[in-house]
Amino acid sequence: MGYSIAIDGPAGAGKSTVAKKLAKKLNFIYIDTGAMYRAMGLFFARNRINLADEEIVAAACRGVDIRITYENGQQQIWLQGENVTSLIRSEEAGNMASSCAVIDCVRRKLVALQQKMAKEMNVIMDGRDIGTVVLPEADLKIYLTADVETRAERRFKELTDKGESCNIEAIRKIISDRDYRDTHRAVSPLRQAEDAVYLDSSHLSEEEVVNRILDIFSEKTGC
Ligand code: DC
Repeated sequence: MGYSIAIDGPAGAGKSTVAKKLAKKLNFIYIDTGAMYRAMGLFFARNRINLADEEIVAAACRGVDIRITYENGQQQIWLQGENVTSLIRSEEAGNMASSCAVIDCVRRKLVALQQKMAKEMNVIMDGRDIGTVVLPEADLKIYLTADVETRAERRFKELTDKGESCNIEAIRKIISDRDYRDTHRAVSPLRQAEDAVYLDSSHLSEEEVVNRILDIFSEKTGC
């Protein structure tokens, strides 16, 4: 078993940006677990699966094939043999992910895949349940958050930089709704693990967050 760092927190807190930078500095593999839920959401949407129908959902969970590979250090996500990495970044895909992430068989399937990967490599993994469920023995757990306003502004900038037209009010609403769904679901809701370090990034730069986590990691492990 290698080293593992778990980063949990709400949508738009900066988890993936920070985790990617940390992975580079530490030479760890970055595992974006949200991408797995997004691919699963895409699968359900494409196959027009009614999420309320337990039997059909269970059969779909058994039949779905999600794989992760790395190309030049970048995570690639494969759904039924198709590379869907670039198809899952939209707000719509995020919502589909959040909706299917409440389903027990979806979580069991993806958690098993995540745990298998952490056994084989030094990993930094981000998501909602990494410190609480996926890697309860992680060497370091971070709960990274920021206030809703800051997160909405960051998402707005990210989308407009990519040339997507969007509206800040709508983004704020999507983020609040997603927070509610992610923290109130019955299975593995988003919450801070008892032994996680709480970091509010509202008034910190990415660089400051990364350096703070590196300091805590080296204090804890001597690495
Ligand atoms: O981190 P993200 O925005 O890509 O995640 C998309 C959705 O997937 C998020 O709203 C909740 C769900 N998710 C989850 O339930 N557990 C995880 N470990 C990662 C994501």
